[in-house]
Amino acid sequence: MIPFVNLRLQYESIQAEIDQAVKEVFTQSQFIGGEPVRKFETEFAKLLGTNHCIGTGNGTDSLFLILKALGIGSGDEVITPAFSCIPSAECITLTGATPVFADVDNLFYTIDPNEVDRKITPKTKAIIAVHLYGQAAPVSHLKSLCDKHKIFLIEDCAQAHLTKENNKFAGTFGIASAFSFYPTKNLGAYGDAGCVITNDNNLAEKIRRLANHGALRRDDHEIEGTNSRLDTLQAAILSAKLKHLQQWNTQRAELAQCYTTLFKNNKHIIAPAIRENSNHTFHIFAIRTKQRNALKQFLSDNGIETLIHYPEGLPFTKAYRHKNHSPKDFPVTASLQNEALSLPVYPGLTPDAVNTVAQNVKNYFLG
Ligand SMILES: Cc1ncc(COP(=O)(O)O)c(C=O)c1O
Repeated sequence: MIPFVNLRLQYESIQAEIDQAVKEVFTQSQFIGGEPVRKFETEFAKLLGTNHCIGTGNGTDSLFLILKALGIGSGDEVITPAFSCIPSAECITLTGATPVFADVDNLFYTIDPNEVDRKITPKTKAIIAVHLYGQAAPVSHLKSLCDKHKIFLIEDCAQAHLTKENNKFAGTFGIASAFSFYPTKNLGAYGDAGCVITNDNNLAEKIRRLANHGALRRDDHEIEGTNSRLDTLQAAILSAKLKHLQQWNTQRAELAQCYTTLFKNNKHIIAPAIRENSNHTFHIFAIRTKQRNALKQFLSDNGIETLIHYPEGLPFTKAYRHKNHSPKDFPVTASLQNEALSLPVYPGLTPDAVNTVAQNVKNYFLG
């Protein structure tokens, strides 16, 4: 059996470091805030080269907090990709604003700036660029669109820890960026966790307040906020794992390269393209094929677990059906939802296992 992901394997490879980090938190017995949170925030900000990192409860909250802190709400529109995970859109509705979907491009599967341009109205306040699967969204192009229209660029980096475009980390192009540390992410906690990064001092303070009942210190409730803090235990685990992130990403890229080489010249499969002047951190390795569902079943019958990211484009999910979109509004999303298939790619997966997966994929098309 080859599972889609194996977190146990990763834990075992760094067990002593994790156990030590967890033990220290238990010994200190400060479970909210404290040194481990400050330490992780400082380390992550330093690694990415930003002024501020604010730990949060999860990636969805991170996106919501950014929008809220920017004053986005009722009557405003925010443009977000039609092909993504639902948090990239529901964060907008949560503020009272309206999500406006733009299709993704057919090669890299990230939001298409030409489609964004078509969707900008006087009500548009921001664009959310999702670095989907670990692929850099066209942030330079999006940034110039935002500058032209005087709107905000927000980056959703939930799937893009240490992705780079033009030698700059994803997350450092917009006004602020949201990260998720959901357990299966390239940098994953052992529960829900997230953060916001930004260079803007005022925004950082506002987000810190909003995430902690409007207070920077105990009983200092300047505004109303919510409770979305990075848990101390998760922060300690994240610091222990952060040291390994670059090496894990390298392993993912090597495994992705193995797949791509093995699929070369196979006319039934499209392997992921990598945007020029960028790296791809392969949170997900998704191939594209017209026979996706039958191939998925065949692989499952042969002990290989795969997933679909995503079986429905956001405009076509029940949650957004009230917008009355049709497939012709988002043709790329409409085909990706039927064709994308995510194969196992994770640190600790062996090149032999990749070979087995790829051979099975090829066998399906021979049969
Ligand atoms: C693209 C994208 N955005 C946002 C999120 C939300 O992150 P979280 O699950 O930590 O709320 C996720 C992950 O689930 C994601 O994949």
